[in-house]
Order: sequence, then C-alpha cells, then structure tokens
Amino acid sequence: MKNKVVIITGGSSGIGKALAEVFGKNGSKIMITGRHAGDLAQAVADLKADGIEAVGFNGDVSLESDNQKMAGEAIRIFGRIDVLIANAGITMRALFEEVNMAVVRKVMDINFFGALYATQACLPEIKKNKGSIIGISSIAGFRGLPARTGYSASKFALNGFLEVLRTELLHEGVHVLTASPGFTASNIRKRALTKDGSVQGESPRDEQSMMTAEACAQHIYRATVKRKTILILTTQGKFTVWLNKWFPSLTDRLVYGVMAKEANAPLR
Ligand SMILES: NC(=O)c1ccc[n+]([C@@H]2O[C@H](COP(=O)([O-])OP(=O)(O)OC[C@H]3O[C@@H](n4cnc5c(N)ncnc54)[C@H](OP(=O)(O)O)[C@@H]3O)[C@@H](O)[C@H]2O)c1
Repeated sequence: MKNKVVIITGGSSGIGKALAEVFGKNGSKIMITGRHAGDLAQAVADLKADGIEAVGFNGDVSLESDNQKMAGEAIRIFGRIDVLIANAGITMRALFEEVNMAVVRKVMDINFFGALYATQACLPEIKKNKGSIIGISSIAGFRGLPARTGYSASKFALNGFLEVLRTELLHEGVHVLTASPGFTASNIRKRALTKDGSVQGESPRDEQSMMTAEACAQHIYRATVKRKTILILTTQGKFTVWLNKWFPSLTDRLVYGVMAKEANAPLR
C-alpha cells in the first residue's frame, strides 16, 4: 500500500478514522471525507501528527456532485486514486410501522446511493491503476435486524451492488471487497436516527464489549492487501450469517431476542 492514494468516505470517526490510520501507517496517502468540518479537521490533524500524508474533503456522500468534486480533488492533490473505501454510513432505530419514510430515505441516500456515487466518480482512475473498491457493509446486509429496516435494506442493497460490480469488473483487474463488520465500537449508535428523524444521542448497547474500530480496520486492511472478495467480522457476526443460512426461522427468534434486550428497545 506504499504510496497508494486511498480515499475513505466518512473518515472523521469510528471505522473510517481507524482505516485512515492503518492505511496511512502502511505508507498510503489518505483523503478522508465527512460533513462536519470541525471533526474532519481534527481527524486530519491526528493523522498528520502520526506522520501520515492526509487531506480532508468536506462533503456529503449523498450528493452526487460532492463525490465528483472529491475524486477531482484527490487527483489534483495526489495525481491518482488507487483505493476507494466507501465507508460513510448512518443507522436508524424504529419499528417499521412507526418510522417516518424520510428516515429510511436518508439512510438509503447515504449508505447505498452514497457508495454508488463515490464508486462511479472514482472508477475510471481505479480501473486505470487496477486498484481496489472496498464497500463497508454490515452483518445487517446478510441478516436483517428488527427495528433497523432502513439500515438492513441499505446494506442488502450495497451487497447486491458490490457483487454485480465485482462481476462486471472481472476482466479489468479491479479488486472489489465487501467488508462486513459486526458490532464495532464507534459513534454510529449515538448518531442513529429515531422514528421521527431526531438523533438517538446515546448507544443502547455496551460499546466497551465490542470489537474496536482499530481491530476492525486491521482486518479490512489485510483483506485489501490479499485482494479478498468477502470479509465477515466478529465471531457473533460469522455465527449469525451461518445460522441464518441453514436455520432462518430459529435465527428470527434469536435475533429478535438479542435486539429486544437493547436499552429502550422499540420491539414489544
Ligand atoms: N460500528 C458498527 O457496529 C458497524 C457495524 C457494521 C457496519 N458498520 C459500518 O461502518 C461504517 C462506518 O460506521 P462507524 O461505525 O464508524 O460510524 P461513525 O463513528 O458514526 O462514523 C461515520 C462516519 O461517516 C461520516 N458520514 C456520515 N454520513 C455522511 C455523509 N452523508 N457524507 C459523508 N460522510 C458521512 C461521519 O462524519 P459526518 O457525520 O461528519 O459526516 C463519520 O466520519 C458505516 O457504513 C457503518 O454502517 C458499522
């Protein structure tokens, strides 16, 4: 990864920030993106303090034009793009019968369309350089989670997109990785949208007991270097995907039980 140019959407927090650190420490030149300029500037400063060549791009992945500007800026500053990590994402927590559809649409716009826009904007450069496109999906892209309809649907859609992309690019030398973390400590649950679109404000799960963002990023880095196509993380995540394949009805009951135990769970 030495001297490779890596764009990480949503690199100012959590898994994206940890990915910037691990790719940067292995010699890559980094562009991270995000909507909140203050968080982005702090994350860039942290990377630079670690001796990493990094820049920030203040933009919203759900706006197609921001993604084109992002790719243009990376080429202007670094001269090329080798790896895109489509990581920016948000989640929601509400029962389907109660959720305002604007919440589902926002989650789809960021998690699904955001990844498509970023990929299309970077694809000509990545094809030229025979690089990598990494989509950060989720276990929720293999097994739907109750009270996360919009989130699960966005990740199932992302998985379908990445599978087709990988196949379309089979003879182009482009590597496509679907990386699916399990529960990982980050800000995503604090920032989750509730049924009316307000921010949840705190995590309903024990973040301390989860995989760290740094460990998650190490796994994704290694899978990128090895040009793997699918990465499923955490023991619980691997078990859930396996169980759902062979025992889907049992998995319905187990998943319901796990999610109903969350603090203030909307499940009855
Ligand atoms: N943490 C987990 O348990 C977990 C599990 C499976 C998959 N994932 C996936 O991992 C990815 C990263 O999540 P995380 O857990 O690291 O969450 P996080 O700590 O909340 O970080 C999310 C990042 O995405 C950025 N972002 C959000 N919306 C954006 C937008 N519209 N445009 C540009 N940037 C945007 C945020 O910055 P701004 O808010 O400033 O824009 C932030 O930098 C997501 O795709 C998530 O679905 C997470």
